[in-house]
Amino acid sequence: MTSAQHSLSGIDAGSIPSAHRMRRLRRSDGLRRMVRETRLSPTNFIYPVFATTGRGVREPIPSMPGQSRLSVDQLAQEAAELRSLDIPAILLFGLPDSKDPEGSGAWISDGVIQQATRALKDAQPDLVVVTDVCLCEYTDHGHCGVLDAEGSVINDASVELLARTALSQADAGADVIAPSDMMDGRIGVIRRALDQQGFEERTLLAYSAKFASAFYGPFRDAADSAPQFGDRRAYQMDPPNGREAMRAIERDLAEGADMVMVKPALAYLDLVREARQRFDAPLAAYNVSGEYAMLKAAAANGWIDEERVVLETLTGIRRAGADMILTYHAKEAARWLARQGG
Ligand code: PBG
Repeated sequence: MTSAQHSLSGIDAGSIPSAHRMRRLRRSDGLRRMVRETRLSPTNFIYPVFATTGRGVREPIPSMPGQSRLSVDQLAQEAAELRSLDIPAILLFGLPDSKDPEGSGAWISDGVIQQATRALKDAQPDLVVVTDVCLCEYTDHGHCGVLDAEGSVINDASVELLARTALSQADAGADVIAPSDMMDGRIGVIRRALDQQGFEERTLLAYSAKFASAFYGPFRDAADSAPQFGDRRAYQMDPPNGREAMRAIERDLAEGADMVMVKPALAYLDLVREARQRFDAPLAAYNVSGEYAMLKAAAANGWIDEERVVLETLTGIRRAGADMILTYHAKEAARWLARQGG
């Protein structure tokens, strides 16, 4: 049948140039797979986990359906599951038993994140253990560093404590140290401290472009890390600032970061793209707790097809240019991808 025979109105659609018929490449699953530009794989994922003290604890996090606080003894099972799903890395956050003004729970050698790191390296030596370096989960005031008399975070004193934290995590066996505190100069100070202590082969993933975002809400419930007064706008980045994000990435690479991050992901995909074009270092994007919670809530209400929306979202982050995606969807997405045959 010619297109003229399909004509409903005598309009000559047959005059569409052959080169403009892009639907030819969309006709079958085989053709679509063949010309697909962006691949999403479990190997792109880093799975964030909240480690807590005690034994046998798997405490669901209400604002993050499907995620739980896990005691250290539960992590071996988690690690085995990640390996079986071909997810190469886990990101650890620690929930300490007690907090103080300096966040000492972050750097003590038997701190929860140190115990969790040892347990994971014991159980699955090949799983990459990434540790979050920040004080907010460990300080009683909930800020990411130590405070002066007026309640503002003192940069350089905080950096010293963050470097102590990084060292004790490296000592526990962390493969990748990931500072998320947003103090100035911490990457350089941590790099030097690691090198001096014989950890020159441990990797630094810098949360370089981390914005003061309302999308962290569910995380702060999960990690009990909301500031007790004020907010984080005096140290995390101002959301409208894209050029500043590029300066921060450039600085962190100059200070010795091996990999850099944009966080959150979805409202900042322009910066993921720009960072990809400007810098050749491995680039991560953090698909944060609020982004996860929104999809979970819509899916629970039957408003969206969760599998398709999650995979479309993660593919979008990859297409923007991220090599790695830190995501709470990692395990489910890996299962869906395996079922679809990649
Ligand atoms: C700690 C930290 C936060 C997140 C990661 N590391 C919270 C914050 O900065 O307040 C957020 C992650 C998420 O929302 O999933 N500084």
